[in-house]
Amino acid sequence: MTFAARALRHLAATPSLRQVLAPSARLIPRTPVRAFAVSSARLSDKLFVHRETPENNTKQVFEFNAENAKEAQAILAKYPEQYKKAAIIPLLHLGQKQLGWTSIAVMQAVARMTEVPPMRVYEVASFYTMFNRDPVGKYFLQVCTTTPCELCGSTEILKAAEEHLGIKVGETTPDKLFTLVEVECAGACVNAPVVAVNDDYYEDLTPRSVTKLIDAVRAGNPPPPGPMSGERKTCEPVGGLTSLTEEPTGPGFGVRKDL
Ligand code: FES
Repeated sequence: MTFAARALRHLAATPSLRQVLAPSARLIPRTPVRAFAVSSARLSDKLFVHRETPENNTKQVFEFNAENAKEAQAILAKYPEQYKKAAIIPLLHLGQKQLGWTSIAVMQAVARMTEVPPMRVYEVASFYTMFNRDPVGKYFLQVCTTTPCELCGSTEILKAAEEHLGIKVGETTPDKLFTLVEVECAGACVNAPVVAVNDDYYEDLTPRSVTKLIDAVRAGNPPPPGPMSGERKTCEPVGGLTSLTEEPTGPGFGVRKDL
């Protein structure tokens, strides 16, 4: 008998640890099974697969309008003939700008233009959350809730927006005017908390100013983007400069006199 066969026979004849402990198991208090993470798992609220619906199906055809068709050609012209696929993201972005969201028809149009199998475009569109694969409202509100915004009160801002709009995160108002989503860092932390309305950033928000902003947008009269606190114009410190406060040095500063 080989060594391996002997070992297998020995294992089969040996009672398992469970069998050995079975009689006393009832006496040992059971430790509750605890996962490594105790917070709830955050999963994407989007399906990664496509489901045919009347408003989003593979029978539809998307075409760029005259102006965007020109823009699309300009985008394609930036890349060598054999690397047309490099234009997938800018073309998807252009398609989303025209339609308001990225339907499967937009993805197929981009696949045709870049001469790749549609799956290559689906992969890109479903990876980047910036591509909305479902229709969104006329005003797409993205509330940043990452750490700097969170520390500056984004939880209250999100709550105020939900209550004022009467919808929850991920939903669209019945009049199709607003869609509210929660996003990771919008890249404007110095002016936290931040909400993007379509392509415009509104910063230094409070629960009160965000409701005023929503009302102004609803009335078709959005304020100029930027800080809403009235205390600064862009991203300069509110309390005045704290660095680079001296007169700037001129040309030749610090250079040896004999040079
Ligand atoms: S954390 Fe909100 S913009 Fe960076």
